[in-house]
Amino acid sequence: MDFKGKDIIAIRDFSKQEINYILNYAKKMVPFALGEKTTTILQGKVLSSLFFEPSTRTRLSFESAMNRLSGRVIGFADPTATSQKKGETLADTIRMADAYSDVIAIRHPLEGAARLAADFSEAPILNAGDGAGRHPTQCFLDLFTILTEKNKIEGQNVVLLGDLKYGRTVHSLAYALSVYGAELTFVSPKSLQMPKEIVDECKELGVTPQSTTKLDRIIKDADVLYVTRIQKERFPDAEEYNRVVGSYKINNELLKPAKEDLIIMHPLPRVTEIHPEVDKTSHAIYFKQAFNGVPIRMALLSLITGGVL
Ligand code: CP
Repeated sequence: MDFKGKDIIAIRDFSKQEINYILNYAKKMVPFALGEKTTTILQGKVLSSLFFEPSTRTRLSFESAMNRLSGRVIGFADPTATSQKKGETLADTIRMADAYSDVIAIRHPLEGAARLAADFSEAPILNAGDGAGRHPTQCFLDLFTILTEKNKIEGQNVVLLGDLKYGRTVHSLAYALSVYGAELTFVSPKSLQMPKEIVDECKELGVTPQSTTKLDRIIKDADVLYVTRIQKERFPDAEEYNRVVGSYKINNELLKPAKEDLIIMHPLPRVTEIHPEVDKTSHAIYFKQAFNGVPIRMALLSLITGGVL
């Protein structure tokens, strides 16, 4: 399969065969991501890392991935320190990054920004999250985590919990899990339910998600519990946020009826939705999940720049 020059904008742009190929290739990247092996496959290549919104994991794991492949990184994490402050358009900023580098990762608060960037760049664009829209590299790493922890995705009982309205990771993940034939349950406050178009998309793929507001009723059947933060920054109305904040809190008491091999995932950052006491349990794999961002982003950087292992 040839991905050279391909933009990574949305998981929906990939077939199941292509996703499988990328996940398998990412497995080969793990010893390099851990620093146990070294490679120079991206020596001489430059990544532009353009973060118009805050990030810990996505930005640092992209930088780690590029460094582990012997490439270099330029960019910014604070757009107010760029000429955007003087009124430069996104299109012109992208034209400059294109001139200075071989591949561009962009996070932006506006949905559609990554696709717009792709229109102005010869270098491939990696969408590192666009508003409440897409976060495809997160989706790849989430699938990779379920696959490596559970050996298969098909048939897993996956509960998506929390802010299913504004949480961009769960939109992509619900679609991708349906492609793989997982069983889905959506748990959220009524005002933060999964958008109808995503539910319809799952149904078109042959999966009929269950929806509830009560986690305690269904926790015993879950194989994977995917927890999300209530996305305060996306709420148009502070009152609406105040009504739902703190709706779900995962703690050891709540997990008592859970299966022994339940895994708990979270794209992070977490705020109060998972108590730190859960970190010590065998269920907690969210930090390992965050590490998986490195081999996944190594695989994607390698494939789209043509520097393949
Ligand atoms: N999961 C995720 O996107 O985390 P950051 O916002 O810290 O990049």
